This record gives sequence, C-alpha cells and structure tokens, in this order.
Amino acid sequence: MTSATIPGLEPGSAPTRHQELLEWVAEVARLTQPDQVVWSDGSDEEWTRLTDELLAAGTITKLDEEKQPNSFAANSDPADVARVESRTFICSKREIDAGPTNNWVDPTEMRATMTELYTGSMRGRTMYVIPFCMGPLGADDPKLGVEITDSAYVVLSMRIMTRVGPAVLETLGTDKFFVKALHSLGAPLQPGDTDVPWPCNTEKYITHFPEDREIWSYGSGYGGNALLGKKCYSLRIASAMAHDEGWLAEHMLILKLISPEEKAYYIAAAFPSACGKTNLAMIQPTIPGWRAETLGDDIAWMRFGDDGRLYAVNPEFGFFGVAPGTNWSSNPNAMETLKQGNTMYTNVAVTDDKDVWWEGLEGSHDHLIDWQGKDWTPESDGPAAHPNSRYCVPMSQCPIMAPEWDDPQGVPISAILFGGRRKTTVPLVTEARDWQHGVFMGATVGSEQTAAAEGTVGAIRRDPMAMLPFLGYNVGDYLQHWIELGKSADESKLPKVFYVNWFRRGADKRFLWPGFGENSRVLKWIVERIEGTVGGVETPVGIVATPEALDLDGLDVNLDDVAEALAVNVDEWREEIPSIEEWFSFVGDKLPTGIADEFEALKQRLA
Ligand code: GDP
Ligand code: PGA
Ligand code: MN
Ligand code: MN
Repeated sequence: MTSATIPGLEPGSAPTRHQELLEWVAEVARLTQPDQVVWSDGSDEEWTRLTDELLAAGTITKLDEEKQPNSFAANSDPADVARVESRTFICSKREIDAGPTNNWVDPTEMRATMTELYTGSMRGRTMYVIPFCMGPLGADDPKLGVEITDSAYVVLSMRIMTRVGPAVLETLGTDKFFVKALHSLGAPLQPGDTDVPWPCNTEKYITHFPEDREIWSYGSGYGGNALLGKKCYSLRIASAMAHDEGWLAEHMLILKLISPEEKAYYIAAAFPSACGKTNLAMIQPTIPGWRAETLGDDIAWMRFGDDGRLYAVNPEFGFFGVAPGTNWSSNPNAMETLKQGNTMYTNVAVTDDKDVWWEGLEGSHDHLIDWQGKDWTPESDGPAAHPNSRYCVPMSQCPIMAPEWDDPQGVPISAILFGGRRKTTVPLVTEARDWQHGVFMGATVGSEQTAAAEGTVGAIRRDPMAMLPFLGYNVGDYLQHWIELGKSADESKLPKVFYVNWFRRGADKRFLWPGFGENSRVLKWIVERIEGTVGGVETPVGIVATPEALDLDGLDVNLDDVAEALAVNVDEWREEIPSIEEWFSFVGDKLPTGIADEFEALKQRLA
C-alpha cells in the first residue's frame, strides 16, 4: 500500500495544518503500514466506539454499571505486566550522557534496528494519532506531545492520564514544538489472522532519544511502557529538558496538608514504584483537626518562582494506581474516586456479579475470574489479582483534589520527602541538616524491589530520588543539578528535606509503624519542624523524631514499637557503608564532590 491509499492519510483529511506533525504521521504510516489512520479526539463517542471494539476483541470486560459505572477490566498478556527496565534505553549521542544507570545504544544504530521492527508492524491494525498535553494547557509553555499507537487500550488510557482533545491541536497551532512519541505493539496481522486479546511482542524496546526529545516504544502494551506521556515523557525526556532549562522533573506525589489553624503546607515526596506514593497523596489524617488534599500521586515538575520558592505542578490528569492493598480503610479516597466510575482496570480479578476484587480489598469470594481470565477460588495457587494490577482513573473524580490542582502556577513546596521500603536500618523519619545533606539522603535511597518492574522482588537497590528507572541522562549530572539548584536559591526559601520509612519491621516481621492514615502523625512532626516548634534528636544520620515529639494521641500502638521504628542503630548503619560505597563507585567520576563530602562526614560520625 502506498501512503496515498491508506485511509485517513488523504490530503486535507487531518484535523490540523501543523506541517511537521502531518509529515511525521505520513512517514510513520508509510513505515508501519496500518489499515487506516484515525485521529483521536478524546470524545465520549470515541470512548464508546473503542470500548465496544475491545469488548468484541475480548481485551476488556464490562463491569456492572451500578457498582462500577462506565468501567472496564483488561487482562494483559501474562508476560506484559510491568515496566521492563532491562529493555528501556536512553539513546543519547554520547554513552556518557546516558550514564552508568541506563541501557545505552548508539542512536543511529537503535533507529536502524527499530525502523526494521516498525516496518509493517501495524499491518491489519488502526494507527491512532493522539495529541496530548502534560500539565495544564493554559501554562505559559504548555508541554505538548503526540503519541502514535496501534493500541486502542492506549488511546483509552491516554484519555484518562493526559489532557487530550481538540484544544490540544488548537494549542499546537501550525508550528508549536511537540514531543514525538511512537508506540507499536509489534503484532501485525496478516489477512485471515485472528487477533489475540492482548497483542504484544516478546521483543520489547522502550527507547528515548533525549537530545531529539523523541520516544520510540515497541512490543509492550502495558502502562509505563505504552502510555508514553507518563514515565517516558514526563520523567525521562522531561528530566533531560529540566537539566537543560534549570528545573526538576521528579517521581513525586504532591500533597497539601492543612493544619487545625487552616495553614496549608505543600509537600512533595519521592518513593520508588509501589512504595506508597499514591496512598500518601490521598492520605486521610487520623489526627483531629488536620486535613489533606491532593495534587498528584506520581510525578512533579518543579521550578523556582519569582518569589524564590520552589513551585510544583503535576503533569498528569489521572491516577495509575496499584490496586492490591487499596481498600476502604487503607485508602478511602482512592475507593471514592473509583466509585465514580470511568475506570480502566488492568489485571485485577472480576467477581461473578462483575465487580472488581484484589488482594487486600474488603469482602471475600468463593469464585472469581483471576487476572489471567481463569477460574479462581481461595484454594487456587497464586493471587487473584496480579501484584502490579492497576486502576486508571480520572484525577478530577478524587474527592480530595485541591482546588488549585489544575493551576499552571503550581504550588510552593515546603518539604521534600524521600523514602523507600526498608525492613531495617532506616528510621521512620529523619530531617536533613541542610539542602546538600538532603540531596545526599535522596542520592542514597535504598529500597526493596517491588512487582512494579521486572526483577527480584525484595532485593535492595539504590534508587536515587526514586528516579533510577526514570533518569533521561547521567545520574552524576543529575545529582549535580540538584546541588546547583540548591546553591542558586535563597536557602531560607528552600524546602526542608526529610527521609521517611513506613516499612521497618520488628524481629517478628510485623510492620513497626501502622502506616497509611497514621502517617499524618509523621507529617505533623515535619510541619512542626518547618515551624520550629518541635524537637528532634541529632544522630549520625540526621535529626530524628523521638516518640515524645510525635503526636501519638489516640494511637493504639506499642510505644516500644514506635521507639524501634525511630531507632538509629549505628551497627546497622555501618553495614550500609560498603553498599553506598559500591553505589557511588558505580556512579563514577561524575559523583558531585558535595555528595562525596557528605558521605565522608557520615562515615566519621558513625566511626
Ligand atoms: P506507589 O506505587 O508508590 O504509588 O505506591 P502505593 O501507594 O500504590 O502503595 C504500594 C503498596 O504499598 C500498596 O500495596 C500499599 O497498600 C502499600 N502501602 C502504602 N503505604 C503504606 C504504609 O504506610 N504502610 C504499609 N505497610 N504499606 C503501605
Ligand atoms: P507507581 O507508578 O510509582 O505508582 O508504581 C507506576 C510506575 O512507577 O511504574
Ligand atoms: Mn511511578
Ligand atoms: Mn502510585
């Protein structure tokens, strides 16, 4: 087929006159050879048409209209359930610019390899063109993108996760810059072939060309691999943009905490995937008089405002949250958000009356259809929902969205929290002495691996600022960027930095701290530290809360457990040293001297 004969490519048929965009669409269509090209408009009509198609294809199940209005459950291929970090590439021109933490291939070579894979890769399928915007369209410099995909599931999910629709094309005009984001499932159909419910390819590439601000993804239909506005654009490409332009693109939630005196504090927090961001973002405080609102659960873009404070915006439009563990007591605000409907679930279990279920959700069932579409009973081997099963739901449905969540100005951040999943060593909450010490804390975050990406669940790895899988450039340059931003700022206006760990366990393996809503007690201590109204104890690793300084009123918890959760055990910390040493030697020559100095100082304090 020549491009002229692909329906949807006829001159004048596209809803834009953006020449570069038109040329790119035609070029990709010629390469991938779809049956037709369709411009996505994000309309309700499109939602109905595509969900009907996916129902017919067996990709999704329609859920009960009363319990889960306008909502669907998709089952992925069992081999396409998480981000594939081993197949994620940063193809900068120079290898050193991708740094030691990323997979790198020469961009020319990668483009050749992938061009071959893309040749005819959309045969028998529809090629969708999705103009989208990360962050409010009304921003001074709106961050635009266009995703080309052959997956209807991606079109539906992008409508939830990003701002789409005719207003985006209007903003693009005839010549505005946009990020080109190309996605193909890599599963062409020959005439007469029958399709599978979740097409994908065993060969996968999630590739970024940071200098060209381009994304090429192939072979996976899953979340972070395929919804290219999220991790690929808003973290990997955006972090490279932010480095060039003097801002930060971070793997952080944004939370607004309101004190009994009605004073609002904005807090950003970076934890690795499946380590508690969405739950903290939607926290329901348990301490009287304190309230929380949310602005985002996964990504924050931060830049200094004219007043010298650091302002954060959430580029996303929806939540892509971990389902297991979510319930009416751990995260009632997520449950309320889902109750409104309009949700695309992936890899959860479905009940006989077409509701959803996952491990940790209230209620028990004698029979379910599990995440692989098979009959499941409590006697079955393995969980009913995949551990990384997700809900994809519009943010606007969350009952505690802060009114300013859509404000292009963003919100001024008072505290930055780093954290991870650590059974031992790391106290419940530690305050950094100053910005550089805070950057050191962020640079050395260690966390047990989770089901959110392939790899050994439970193994500890260093995950700087929870950005290890999302850095679009060299990690040493990234840490230097953090240091320099701090130096360029008025120190008194910088956010205070804290290190938290909700996951410390006692000798009997129990969590020492109840977590979830009770984390508001830790947030209160953080706010009081900002106000200078509460004490803490100086330790070799920073200023740690004491059980007396934490508001534990009405908390049904053993005080010894709290003391153990807060303990700084010098022997445990000494055991950290070789592993930090190893991590820093992996970072290599680009490790900032400021960070090396902090490490030396820590070693001396522990000696
Ligand atoms: P995210 O992927 O970083 O957004 O993490 P989530 O908020 O989705 O949480 C991931 C998993 O950690 C879920 O199973 C949660 O139930 C669990 N989790 C979240 N917060 C806490 C907490 O404070 N304590 C404990 N023990 N588990 C938590
Ligand atoms: P998470 O986001 O941080 O909520 O797990 C998805 C991901 O990081 O893959
Ligand atoms: Mn994430
Ligand atoms: Mn999350």
